[in-house]
Amino acid sequence: MKKIYLIGFMGSGKSTIGSELSKKDSLTFVDTDQFIEEKYKTRIARIFEEDGEETFRNYEVETLKDLIDFDVIATGGGIIERKENKVTMEKNGVIIYLHTSFKEIDSRLKNDVDRPLWNNDMDNKMALYKRRIPLYKDFADHVIQTDDKTVEEIVREIEEYTKSV
Ligand code: S3P
Repeated sequence: MKKIYLIGFMGSGKSTIGSELSKKDSLTFVDTDQFIEEKYKTRIARIFEEDGEETFRNYEVETLKDLIDFDVIATGGGIIERKENKVTMEKNGVIIYLHTSFKEIDSRLKNDVDRPLWNNDMDNKMALYKRRIPLYKDFADHVIQTDDKTVEEIVREIEEYTKSV
């Protein structure tokens, strides 16, 4: 079976949607951030702090290649920072971009302190979001707008898309 990769900015719901989709359709699910934290036995924030973002990006590249046992994969928001990740995902499955507006993300992550790249001033967060939108679109086989939709609706859209390819 082709894997289903979920990509999108922090707070776009990749983990929630991926988990629901996998439960509904009896598929195996993994979240790359969680996988990295378990593999390296440390928190993502700590990797950024102690080893830097580049090290974390290297871990992501390797992890993505390692996930042979999983059907649904929720990726970290920065998976599009390395072009080689597109090659890995294209080879193994379909890439679905969950597009969420900045306004919605900002309201969801208002009190979040765990994400190093969200722990920043508004201008920087907005600039990161704007820079990444074309990258997500370039990686994606399919885009789903998530604003004002329920988890169930988004899951259904993914099912419909994956049935059609
Ligand atoms: C990151 C997103 C995070 C996590 C790390 C870096 C990013 O994952 O991988 O903090 O660069 O956007 P989520 O998208 O699951 O928050």
